[in-house]
Amino acid sequence: MNKIPECLIHPISIKLIRQGHPWITADNFSNRFPRQSEFIVAMDDRKRPMALLIHDPNHKNVKARVWSTKYPFDREAQHFTAGIQARLDVAFEKRAQELALKERDNYYLVFGEADHLPGLFILKLKDRVLIQFFTSFWNRYKSIIQTTVQEVFPELTDENIWFQLRGETRELQKLPVNATDAGRRDEFHIQEFGLQYLIRLGSSYDHGLYTDMSSVRYVLKKFIKPESTVLNLYCYTGAFSLWAMKLGARQVTSVDLSPKYIEWLQQNLGLNPELNSAQHEALTMSAEEALVKLRNEEKKFDFIICDPPSSSSDGEKRTSAIKSYKDLISKMDKVLNPQGQMVIFLNTHQVSQQKYEKTIQDILGELKLNYKLSMRLSLGQDCPILKGFPEGNYLKGLVLEKI
Ligand SMILES: C[S@@+](CC[C@H](N)C(=O)[O-])C[C@H]1O[C@@H](n2cnc3c(N)ncnc32)[C@H](O)[C@@H]1O
Repeated sequence: MNKIPECLIHPISIKLIRQGHPWITADNFSNRFPRQSEFIVAMDDRKRPMALLIHDPNHKNVKARVWSTKYPFDREAQHFTAGIQARLDVAFEKRAQELALKERDNYYLVFGEADHLPGLFILKLKDRVLIQFFTSFWNRYKSIIQTTVQEVFPELTDENIWFQLRGETRELQKLPVNATDAGRRDEFHIQEFGLQYLIRLGSSYDHGLYTDMSSVRYVLKKFIKPESTVLNLYCYTGAFSLWAMKLGARQVTSVDLSPKYIEWLQQNLGLNPELNSAQHEALTMSAEEALVKLRNEEKKFDFIICDPPSSSSDGEKRTSAIKSYKDLISKMDKVLNPQGQMVIFLNTHQVSQQKYEKTIQDILGELKLNYKLSMRLSLGQDCPILKGFPEGNYLKGLVLEKI
């Protein structure tokens, strides 16, 4: 193996790596890393080697990720393949021990940085596995990853292993890439907490069910009471709606701007004949419009779920979820019953938990609304959180009770 280039890194990166943060973002230092090098040894300001990095010069933001802080780094690089296998095995074993995951077909086998496999996410979707690369670095190691997965799950055939490039650069956002055939499509059903969902691989960026939200869905069992009325805003393919119906909700209204997702939701409902679709109403419109319409119709709900995209555009300007919450909370309050609850999510690392809670408290104060914080929700069992890495702790939910 050629000698690994040793490169100085930005003083802020030095500090962050020492705190456990595994990313080197684009700056005057990382932009000078030799492009062709797969690995980089990061040097501190006193020219001491401090970490072995995996390098991705094509990524818009994250130019390199920490693979190891264990010296000697040339040895770590030489044994890189064995290192991947060992880390995959540890991650798989962790999930095998987790009893809560037995109640669903969908869970993360690997959750990137928190499993010490930076930028690599692996989802188990019943008898399929979806391997997601958030850095194109992993492309070179596709077959070793696939083989290791198949050693642990020997029943997995090649066609049931899917690869997808994801991430921030346009180049990475191209269509999913399958292990065997880039043009192939796959449709199948999976079970989560006794409900069936339609999954589509190969046809769009997302496959139809947010697995990182599964443990949160389960927790909402505490709040959605039989006979309650539920409003699910930004419902996507309806996972929260079906779950509310399964928990005995008397009436569920689902809202999404996208006709494609509402159609998908209806297909999901059809897969679960024990749910009474007469108790479900779907509205294909914006959440804001739906809230006005429901208020005009004097509809009231006991529980509201609000999970907006972290930022959205109306074609002219971009609005972040946090900015839209003042208007949304004011409108949701008008259709929420006394003692009712709303769960409001924020799906971004850019706002800390503390800042999120403070912003919501300020909004409630300005609107002169009385709510009590009943619970904080975050990523669950299969989606661990790495200390010192706020980017990995992106999901924040607050359950607010009207008092
Ligand atoms: C983060 S996903 C919601 C995921 C969903 N809560 C789940 O767990 O399955 C965001 C959804 O909001 C929808 N959306 C985006 N802007 C919207 C708007 N202004 N009003 C209603 N839905 C919108 C998108 O079509 C997408 O389905």
